[in-house]
Amino acid sequence: MKILVTGGAGFIGSNLVEKLLENSENEIIVIDDLSGGKKEFMEPFIDKIEFHEKDLVGEIDNYFLEVDEVWHLAANPDVKDSSIKTFFRDLELTKNVLEACKKNKVKNILFTSSSTVYGESELNTPETCETKPISFYGATKLACEALVSTYCSLYKINGFIFRLANIIGKNSTHGVIYDFVNKLKANNSELEILGDGTQIKSYLSVDDCINGMFVAGKNAKDQINVFNLGTKTQTNVKEIAEIVVEGMINAKLIEEKPEFKFVGGFEGGGWKGDVKEMLLDISKLEKLGFKPVNSSQDAIREAVRETINS
Ligand SMILES: NC(=O)c1ccc[n+]([C@@H]2O[C@H](COP(=O)([O-])OP(=O)(O)OC[C@H]3O[C@@H](n4cnc5c(N)ncnc54)[C@H](O)[C@@H]3O)[C@@H](O)[C@H]2O)c1
Repeated sequence: MKILVTGGAGFIGSNLVEKLLENSENEIIVIDDLSGGKKEFMEPFIDKIEFHEKDLVGEIDNYFLEVDEVWHLAANPDVKDSSIKTFFRDLELTKNVLEACKKNKVKNILFTSSSTVYGESELNTPETCETKPISFYGATKLACEALVSTYCSLYKINGFIFRLANIIGKNSTHGVIYDFVNKLKANNSELEILGDGTQIKSYLSVDDCINGMFVAGKNAKDQINVFNLGTKTQTNVKEIAEIVVEGMINAKLIEEKPEFKFVGGFEGGGWKGDVKEMLLDISKLEKLGFKPVNSSQDAIREAVRETINS
């Protein structure tokens, strides 16, 4: 199968491409402008793929010739730094990807959306919950979902929309674990924590995330399939800080626990637009055979090890 991955040089994308290459029948094309991704993440498999360093806000139709399946991951992944500017940019690039899918009769599109589309909704949030985003990032994902759904319906493309929890693991370049490890490498006497530390969310290992998307891609049969993807467990930010500190002490990078300094934040959250509590109902995907191997805490411990050693 000929598969095109947008954002394949990024965190989730590079892990995804590695897994897709395990099937020797897959031919992989990656388009990434390296604005967030890194060429070194693709080093282990660069000889086995066709890579284009290219901005998706531009002419891209030719890259989609005879492509069967598109994994659309390219986006600004930062909730905190999202803005109306990133909203229009990511919407534009998603429209370009969908237009190219339409023109080249692509069969399947798989899109990485986010739990942030729900905003501050009831916990154990099902896919049927009302979507009320509270950040530009969440709004961007919801708007892109609408475009994916529309193109799939009008042009008979099979669509898969994944509302991801916080994904963590090898090659991560953003998020709370990456932030804490790097802050402590720079200053081991104090750790600055955004918000009051009680923000509590579900963290899913990148391996479980990819496995979940594969389970959906293989078994879901509707024209447009929407799935939550997370763990059934949550961890709060203060606990994450404790696990990072423990990991840094074990790796002999720091000698003792630093002072935790809670700063900034907005109404207890990390920043204005931060959803304070997140736990997704994953039963829809479980019914198709998905079962996360790692709990939120196990995934965090593993991600801390990966980040310290990177
Ligand atoms: N990491 C998470 O916790 C998480 C959670 C929910 C959803 N997501 C979504 O999953 C996807 C992948 O996230 P990630 O964490 O791997 O982020 P990432 O930044 O590592 O990957 C995104 C990739 O897209 C590329 N890109 C961005 N704009 C581009 C453009 N105009 N043209 C070409 N390439 C472009 C970047 O260079 C980067 O390699 C994103 O859509 C993100 O919003 C991630």
